[in-house]
Amino acid sequence: MAAVSVREVAQRAGVSLGTVSNVLNRPESVAPPTRRRVLDAIAELGFVRNDSARQLRAGRSRTIAIVVLDMANPFFTDVARGAETVVDAADGMLVLCNSGEDPRRELRHLELLEEQRVRGVLLTPVGDEPSPAVERLIARGIPVVLVDRGAKLADRCSVAVDDVQGGRLVLRHLVAQGHRRVAYVGGPFGIRQVAERHRGAVAAIDEAGAPVELRVVATGRLSVAAGRDAAAELIGTPAGQRPTAVFCANDLIALGVLQKLTEHGLRVPDDVAIVGYDDIDFAAAAAVPLSSVRQPRERLGRTAAELLLAEADEEAGHEHRHVLFQPELVVRRSSGAPD
Ligand code: RIB
Repeated sequence: MAAVSVREVAQRAGVSLGTVSNVLNRPESVAPPTRRRVLDAIAELGFVRNDSARQLRAGRSRTIAIVVLDMANPFFTDVARGAETVVDAADGMLVLCNSGEDPRRELRHLELLEEQRVRGVLLTPVGDEPSPAVERLIARGIPVVLVDRGAKLADRCSVAVDDVQGGRLVLRHLVAQGHRRVAYVGGPFGIRQVAERHRGAVAAIDEAGAPVELRVVATGRLSVAAGRDAAAELIGTPAGQRPTAVFCANDLIALGVLQKLTEHGLRVPDDVAIVGYDDIDFAAAAAVPLSSVRQPRERLGRTAAELLLAEADEEAGHEHRHVLFQPELVVRRSSGAPD
């Protein structure tokens, strides 16, 4: 069934197209009896305004998109919730796009968002930036803010957490607990966050001066299933060579490692300590409460959305900013804190 047009509403109400437009956009400018006739016609015909066409004509969409790596990861829904509070307050709409850590899906989303001429894009990129698709958006006047990715690029803002410091905090903690065989479970390393957390772990070992073996168990995804698979590899290691602690690139992996180790009868932290990253709500709620590196998730989203709207509104006068938050290690029972 074809959509009802503004013209049909005008004919039903016996008014001009301009009067219908005024009722929709500046209702206070229309005399109450006339406004009532138009609203009755809208209800009777079931008219729904085509906001995207109106926004495109006006050249000012109110839609902000956030493109995340994995919408199944509570880290990103918390970030999106923070962004949403800012976008809602600006009478905008936030749409969530999921790249699934797949560069092809990310590209498709960015191309569609360019076609839609959205007001701006918040992006946690799969690969490194700058990328041609993001360059095209910016060239079209659609601002992009990198979220959860520090990148001192001249043509966009970025908001991130110091992941190198996050990895450093974890290994300092584990070395202080006496661990000398540690596994780092995470991947793909093409995701900058994974590589930087590992880099911080290596730096802490170098700084400690203690003989610590850091064994990398690379995963294809940052998921609970990937954590279970990695734990199976560790379980298969002879006890005398098995790591006594596991640093996981995020909490979903840590939850998978915890599940598999405990299923196999290994005690956490007595046999194997575990530390995750993000401090999502499930970390504290796990069967063995997880130690984790806390990221200010909603604040990341709020800050990124504020920078994006400022750029979209200021346009010419905007100066790009690169905000870097500091992580915090939260120690719980999975790495030795007393109950
Ligand atoms: O998606 C990969 C990870 O990067 C998330 O768990 C979060 O830690 C982000 O920084």
